[in-house]
Amino acid sequence: MKCVSAALWLLLPVISRGEPISITVGTVSVITGIISYYGLHNYLWGSSRMEGAVNVTALQVDFDQNVFGQHLAKQVILKAVPRFLSNENPKKPLALSLHGWTGTGKNYISQILVHNIYSEPMRKKCVRTIVATLHFPHANRVQEYKDQLQMMVKSSVKDCERAIFIFDEIDKMHPGLIDAIKPFLDYYDHIDGVSYRKAIFIFLSNAGGEKITELALKFWRAGRPREEIKLSDVERDVYLSAFNKKDSGFWHSSLIEKNLIDYFVPFLPLEFTHVKKCVLAELRHRGFVEDEELASQVAKDMTYSPKETKLFSDKGCKTVSAKLSLHL
Ligand SMILES: Nc1ncnc2c1ncn2[C@@H]1O[C@H](COP(=O)(O)OP(=O)(O)OP(=O)(O)O)[C@@H](O)[C@H]1O
Ligand SMILES: [Mg+2]
Repeated sequence: MKCVSAALWLLLPVISRGEPISITVGTVSVITGIISYYGLHNYLWGSSRMEGAVNVTALQVDFDQNVFGQHLAKQVILKAVPRFLSNENPKKPLALSLHGWTGTGKNYISQILVHNIYSEPMRKKCVRTIVATLHFPHANRVQEYKDQLQMMVKSSVKDCERAIFIFDEIDKMHPGLIDAIKPFLDYYDHIDGVSYRKAIFIFLSNAGGEKITELALKFWRAGRPREEIKLSDVERDVYLSAFNKKDSGFWHSSLIEKNLIDYFVPFLPLEFTHVKKCVLAELRHRGFVEDEELASQVAKDMTYSPKETKLFSDKGCKTVSAKLSLHL
């Protein structure tokens, strides 16, 4: 921060030749404003970033530039997370459950979020990703896994009170296992002298994906833009399919029964136009010029469902990167 500001102020005499001082000061403010607006702030002044906090504007820019077709997820996360992080005395930890078809951006949005909250060294300390099939593969060891889960949450929050836990593939978790973390998500001031109320728990799953797709299809058939889908149109269905399906990871879970999940966040299935945007973004990230023609070709390489309409990409944007490599 200091060196760039100093550089800008050194430029003052050059900029200000013949200009009133107020215009020059204004110019510097505009430049610094642009820098912070575009999220360059954290990049340029990494050491002075506010760890465990989030710049809403930078997060919104990141979402808008990189995440496509997910207006509901963006809306909910942009509202819930900054508000939670700015509360110094939350009553309980924040719990978000992200649901949707494969390749629709659940992991991706979680990663963008944690990158906006923590720098790399702090991510190592404060962010834990738990993958059901990797960490808890055996059905006959559930009790042991429950103990491990509790230990992991306890030690992480001891190290970092604003720890973020991402539970991936929750629908592949053995029934009952996730209930081991219930005490940490509840409205307790302290448990054994430690407060868990500033932590964030994010659950990712495919449960409810069919219901979300049905609704998106219904809107499309009625000629209504998908952006008109409201959270209330779909939240209940997602919640019920998570609670009632044996293979949802939340089957009859006390986390749901006791209303400890704050938001059920639906991820909509992605259409051809979204897949095309994913290809363009991927080109940009790899340093290539955005090429509409190529993006259409790659998007056409993906398969689409249902049979009659071929509206939604079967794998969302998940294999876009691999498919694009075949064309480069
Ligand atoms: N909505 C999206 N906007 C932009 N890119 C996306 C989107 N969804 C997915 N992608 C791209 O596809 C990749 C895979 O997506 P991601 O891992 O987030 O899928 P997922 O929803 O977690 O799927 P799964 O249920 O299979 O785990 C991302 O890294 C990103 O490059
Ligand atoms: Mg995923």
